[in-house]
Amino acid sequence: TIVRIIGVPMDFGANRRGVDMGPSAIRYAGLSDELERAGVEPVDAGDLFVPRAEERDPDASQPDRGNAKFLREIESVCTRLADEVAAALTEGAFPLVLGGDHSLAIGSMNGSARDATIGVIWFDAHADLNTPQTSPSGNVHGMSLGAVLGREGAESMAWAHAPTVSEESIAYVGLRSLDDRERELLRDSDVTAFTMADIDDRGVTSVVEEALAVATDGTDGVHLSLDLDWLDPRAAPGVGTPVRGGVTYREAHAALETIASRNDREDVVRSMDVVEVNPILDERNETASLAAELTASAFGTRIL
Ligand code: ARG
Ligand code: MN
Ligand code: MN
Ligand code: MN
Repeated sequence: TIVRIIGVPMDFGANRRGVDMGPSAIRYAGLSDELERAGVEPVDAGDLFVPRAEERDPDASQPDRGNAKFLREIESVCTRLADEVAAALTEGAFPLVLGGDHSLAIGSMNGSARDATIGVIWFDAHADLNTPQTSPSGNVHGMSLGAVLGREGAESMAWAHAPTVSEESIAYVGLRSLDDRERELLRDSDVTAFTMADIDDRGVTSVVEEALAVATDGTDGVHLSLDLDWLDPRAAPGVGTPVRGGVTYREAHAALETIASRNDREDVVRSMDVVEVNPILDERNETASLAAELTASAFGTRIL
């Protein structure tokens, strides 16, 4: 397998500067070596061009945009990213997208879903199901799925709607922080949500197997989206929106190894993003190292 690494040094969707340095930090942590050890062939395509946030106006006051910030910039990055991801797939490579904030997943999902019906597994503390109308923060990284699903209130983000991604094929793993409106949205939706409580009760392996069942049922393949704040902040301190009570180092590895062993039997995963690593908030690059390790686990690194 050729894994095409696409860096997206974007921070327009988050309120903490520094997440734009994530792609560098993950590469520096040895991603390519880790991937080689996992038995795949990494090819680094470099970074997408992303303007500096300081040069831009967040445009928060435009009426139809609710309080969503940097929508124009995010549209430009995500549209180009979608093209890159779709091109990688067409050329037979596996697109691995390094972030950057989680709004980039709008681009990766649109690219992955361009010529296919896809399922999505979302490893995250958060649901990212807001729209410009419901978001309390205006940060688009909290709206990625709301926008891709084309939910009510996301009309100002029509470019983000991916018609071949449907609620029935999306599974969250590890949720533990929802805004009030998001909780209502989620309850009324057909998205499958496995919270931290489910992981406590049933163990991470069985939860991930069930998430795989949801995301593969009736789809052509699965997009994995790994937000590093999915992990407990003790394991992954370098994130902008940490939430206590996340998965441990070992649970995270077990989860991605479960993905790898399923993928071994039958190629189901077609694209992946690794997002929200913020080196400014990190301790000795350990969150970036973890991001590199977990990615390699998803591709099949084994102890023995
Ligand atoms: N729900 C909060 C918001 O909408 C936090 C979102 C955090 N998302 C993330 N990808 N880290 O602002
Ligand atoms: Mn998150
Ligand atoms: Mn739709
Ligand atoms: Mn997220």
